[in-house]
Amino acid sequence: MNRVGIVGLGVISRAYLDTLADAAGVRIVAVADLDADRAAAAAAGIPGCRALTPAALYADPEVDTVLNLTIPAAHEEVALAALAAGKDVYGEKPLAATLAAARTVVDAAAAAGRRLGCAPDTVLGTGVQTARAAVEAGTIGAPVGASATWVSAGHESWHPHPDFYYRAGGGPLLDMGPYYLTSLVHLLGPVAWVQGASSRARDTRVIATGPRAGESIPVEVETHVTGVLGHAGGALSTVTFSFDAVASRAEPIEVYGVDGMLVLPDPNHFSGSVHLRRVGSAAEEELPVSAGYEDAARGVGLLDFVAGDGRASGDVALHVLEVMTALLDSAAEGARIPLTTTVEVPPLVPLTPAARWHG
Ligand SMILES: NC(=O)c1ccc[n+]([C@@H]2O[C@H](COP(=O)([O-])OP(=O)(O)OC[C@H]3O[C@@H](n4cnc5c(N)ncnc54)[C@H](O)[C@@H]3O)[C@@H](O)[C@H]2O)c1
Repeated sequence: MNRVGIVGLGVISRAYLDTLADAAGVRIVAVADLDADRAAAAAAGIPGCRALTPAALYADPEVDTVLNLTIPAAHEEVALAALAAGKDVYGEKPLAATLAAARTVVDAAAAAGRRLGCAPDTVLGTGVQTARAAVEAGTIGAPVGASATWVSAGHESWHPHPDFYYRAGGGPLLDMGPYYLTSLVHLLGPVAWVQGASSRARDTRVIATGPRAGESIPVEVETHVTGVLGHAGGALSTVTFSFDAVASRAEPIEVYGVDGMLVLPDPNHFSGSVHLRRVGSAAEEELPVSAGYEDAARGVGLLDFVAGDGRASGDVALHVLEVMTALLDSAAEGARIPLTTTVEVPPLVPLTPAARWHG
């Protein structure tokens, strides 16, 4: 039984608490937040769980793994404190707000001999894993490339504290890119170089909901980002991420091969239909589900992590963060940027019924 201490009890913590409440192999023993009331409210709903200060949680001998659900700007500080206290760390994406901070965390984990995992875990669901199995089986022939598109008008329409989306570590690329780019790494392998372009439609945003509705917040990041990823294997992915537009009718992810084309479901979710169109055919077929965690939800990556697999790894997250920061650097410089990191794509998730990971 792995004993988990959660740091950060905001919006996304509810999804994790739901998944982990009856999951096999983990028990939530402590929670902490800068806002002590949030920690106390969460602890009250979890049998045997204590509300602590963050410092007390890191020092707690009963905690094996720290689950870091804080905002991106705090990911580094929380991870380093937990690692220094001898804990394994699994955290929300992105790994850190900057590439330098993420490298510091990866190096600290290695130096401490502790394990490091990072969301997104949606890519371990049946959607991306079934598509990946098809690519690996040669169903689309030699891969040529992919497109990934995520377009919205911005999270201030629904999030009560959307400030972090418009600060370093936020923006549409660092916020949503991890789902799409981690998928592309699973599908087409690591990225060798990127070429980006970006823009920013507005310098302020207005919060639409919650206690701060009507408040204006500053925009410190690029809010429309496009680019090309050159995968090490030769495939080219074209990507678009935006908080500046309304919506898109493009498929979330399409993968192109010389013999076929795959359409994937939204990689911000775990499941959904994968469609295949073969060369010479006008018809699409739905692929049978063949790989991935079935009926999964946020937190399944942590369960994979404590079980020893750790497919949602710090190394994958570091590589994906470099893809994203290099896209932004490339956009600023107007130059193609070779990457300094690479990664071994984690093993395919065999088709795993929910009963195997649910308690
Ligand atoms: N909201 C979503 O739908 C969503 C979905 C997927 C992933 N995420 C990711 O989850 C993370 C958290 O997002 P959220 O929406 O839950 O944010 P949030 O602002 O709702 O909650 C973050 C919590 O962390 C606490 N916190 C911040 N710094 C801290 C620190 N140093 N020590 C202890 N506690 C600290 C805050 O007090 C707050 O309670 C982000 O990395 C985000 O990208 C969010």
